[in-house]
Amino acid sequence: MNESTKRPLPESPLSNFPPQAGERANESLRDVQVNRHIRSFVRRQGRLSVAQHRAVDTLLPRFGIAYVAQPLDLTAAFARTAPKILEIGFGMGDSTATIALDNPTNDYLCLEVHTPGVGNLLKLIDAQGIANIRIIQHDAVEVLRDMLADGSLDGVHIFFPDPWHKARHNKRRLIQTPFIAALVQKIKVGGYIHVATDWQNYAEQVLQVLSDEPLLQNTVADYAPRPDYRPLTKFEKRGLNLGHGVWDLVFTRV
Ligand SMILES: C[S@@+](CC[C@H](N)C(=O)[O-])C[C@H]1O[C@@H](n2cnc3c(N)ncnc32)[C@H](O)[C@@H]1O
Repeated sequence: MNESTKRPLPESPLSNFPPQAGERANESLRDVQVNRHIRSFVRRQGRLSVAQHRAVDTLLPRFGIAYVAQPLDLTAAFARTAPKILEIGFGMGDSTATIALDNPTNDYLCLEVHTPGVGNLLKLIDAQGIANIRIIQHDAVEVLRDMLADGSLDGVHIFFPDPWHKARHNKRRLIQTPFIAALVQKIKVGGYIHVATDWQNYAEQVLQVLSDEPLLQNTVADYAPRPDYRPLTKFEKRGLNLGHGVWDLVFTRV
């Protein structure tokens, strides 16, 4: 995800997770005790560039929303009534910025825990004058649980969630039955959830979990063509050139 880490290219270009040993240092015992759910991420130090650092300092107060365990008024957060799309795990935010620029009549509430990614998206917001993104730097599981009202979202984007590809790590995958059961409550009837992954085994799990959720209906028989609004990332282009697959799943809230 983070190009600056300069790791060797993994077998599947977007699937460079879980992070390497040493990147778990910040996950303290207190974190684990207080946040009882299994986390779908580990807090990584990563490398924060000077520009990203500056963006966090100067722009997060303007485009960020602090995590607090109380309901968020989305209309007030964006200062307008417009369709609200939630993105979970935007990484470095390049696709997020493109989608938001291309769709100025939508508002995008974007969640990420990784500070260099938050800094990078803030830089893009500033450089491109993007008005329809707000960022919460916090665990999506807790944001959903504590801040979002039922039926408040028109759509949800989860692009290339960490695949946690080793069997013993599969339990850390974000997309599991209880999480989706909680997430669908937040989506309006007629709204959508769009997941993309480049990890076949995860794609199969996502298809199963979403298909089993009674409040969701697949828009196609199984995997969907990539919707036009989702730009190809450079990792994805490279992967496709190498013959790797990418699976999009688009389900509607019924
Ligand atoms: C493999 S990266 C993909 C990033 C981006 N969507 C892309 O396509 O390049 C997955 C991202 O999800 C973030 N993430 C994982 N679990 C999360 C959670 N529970 N809440 C917020 N972000 C999370 C990670 O920090 C990571 O940056």
